[in-house]
Amino acid sequence: MSYFITIEGPEGSGKSTVIEGLQAYFDKHLPVITTREPGGIKISESIRSIILDSDDKMDYRTEALLFAASRRQHLVEKVLPTLKEGKMVICDRFIDSSLAYQGYARGLGVEDILKINGYAIEGKFPDLTLYLHVPPEIGIARIQSNSRETNRLDREKLDFHQRVVDGYEALYKTYPERIVKIDATQSPEAVLNACIQVINKRFNLDMI
Ligand code: TMP
Repeated sequence: MSYFITIEGPEGSGKSTVIEGLQAYFDKHLPVITTREPGGIKISESIRSIILDSDDKMDYRTEALLFAASRRQHLVEKVLPTLKEGKMVICDRFIDSSLAYQGYARGLGVEDILKINGYAIEGKFPDLTLYLHVPPEIGIARIQSNSRETNRLDREKLDFHQRVVDGYEALYKTYPERIVKIDATQSPEAVLNACIQVINKRFNLDMI
């Protein structure tokens, strides 16, 4: 049952709603926790505020290194011990976010981002990644119309968000076994159902 599942996608792709729904569904059947990046534990939440809460200009490589540092601490302090207890871990964002946002959208290059993250994760890639796909115009319109506060990366221009989506599309082609693309323009119920079906099928959990 110790499956490591990550949920990825651009701004406004509905990750939070899906994750709440997955937690509610799987809780009835097996031990499961949900967590998020950057964050999930004290040190990584502190790094999160350094990266996201300030409007100060941050060097892109500094940003990439902070995401990787946060990822490392969260992995060793929370994800790995929880998997060892035999629980399913559903994580809001992981390495693919750094590859899409820092590697592609910031233009730092996927190779370099893979290198620093390789050091951080020591080969611990997710067992399954659900990529919630929405075109950037729809995603941005969604976050502008809901009440959640925007962060420094949300406020980037549309072409940045287009590059994030292009990055995810490229990653999806690079890792076709691990990454499953979900049409997140559907209703929240349909998106959740699609995600549940993919997880059940991938891990032969159809009986639950
Ligand atoms: P969230 O809005 O999903 O909580 O994520 C916070 C922001 O951080 C979001 O704009 C995506 C960005 N991010 C990166 O740029 N690189 C990363 O590695 C991660 C985990 C998040």
